[in-house]
Amino acid sequence: MTTPTARVTSAEPTAFDACGFRVADVLRDGTRILIRACAAGDRDRMIRAFQCLERETIYSRFFAFKESLSEAELDFVAGFDFIDDVMLIATIGDDETVIGAGSYNVRREVDERRVAEVAFVVEEDYQGLGIARRLLGHLARIARERAVVQFDAEVLARNRPMLRVFGASGFPMIRRTDGETVHVSLQLMPGIGAFGVDH
Ligand SMILES: CC(C)(COP(=O)(O)OP(=O)(O)OC[C@H]1O[C@@H](n2cnc3c(N)ncnc32)[C@H](O)[C@@H]1OP(=O)(O)O)[C@@H](O)C(=O)NCCC(=O)NCCS
Repeated sequence: MTTPTARVTSAEPTAFDACGFRVADVLRDGTRILIRACAAGDRDRMIRAFQCLERETIYSRFFAFKESLSEAELDFVAGFDFIDDVMLIATIGDDETVIGAGSYNVRREVDERRVAEVAFVVEEDYQGLGIARRLLGHLARIARERAVVQFDAEVLARNRPMLRVFGASGFPMIRRTDGETVHVSLQLMPGIGAFGVDH
């Protein structure tokens, strides 16, 4: 895949403007990316991005082999409220081709603590360049501003890249292995930054 130059429209994210989130960045191989909030107009981009993913990538993300995103999932992509449901995408090029996505969805706990399920996927050609790290850092900052205290994730035990991203985040992490799956909980502690994102 070629790597077109991203249109640089960098703006510092403001504290309560997650749906306007838009940050230009440069990966360690020099690829210029844009990390921004996913919007209703990204439906076709998300369809195309999914079609580019390899089967194993899809399985690692969804724990199932899928040919495409369902209509319900696409409606969900278009309907993020950026309060309880947040999705950031990483794009390249003037047409903002989607090469990665990170999202969280809040599920309320019995004790009213705001806990969210978090998940990521990065297109294979761009893995290992720090996109998931960046997405996690930005998502954690947005989440903390919305009083989310914990990120949970289900990760395949063999998924060392994802476990590495969580483990390197700086947030206290609890891991519980259940067969082939690892349940990860990150405590989004104040003052602890994930990957240089100012918390
Ligand atoms: C997991 C995933 C999201 C990571 O995305 P990414 O952008 O490649 O992640 P990053 O580049 O930020 O970090 C990956 C880290 O794992 C490391 N890594 C890569 N392959 C590895 C391996 N086989 N063993 C151990 N570490 C590995 C990388 O070196 C990097 O660490 P570093 O930054 O210290 O060098 C991506 O691999 C993916 O989309 N996988 C399929 C979907 C998935 O598993 N989703 C998780 C469900 S929650």
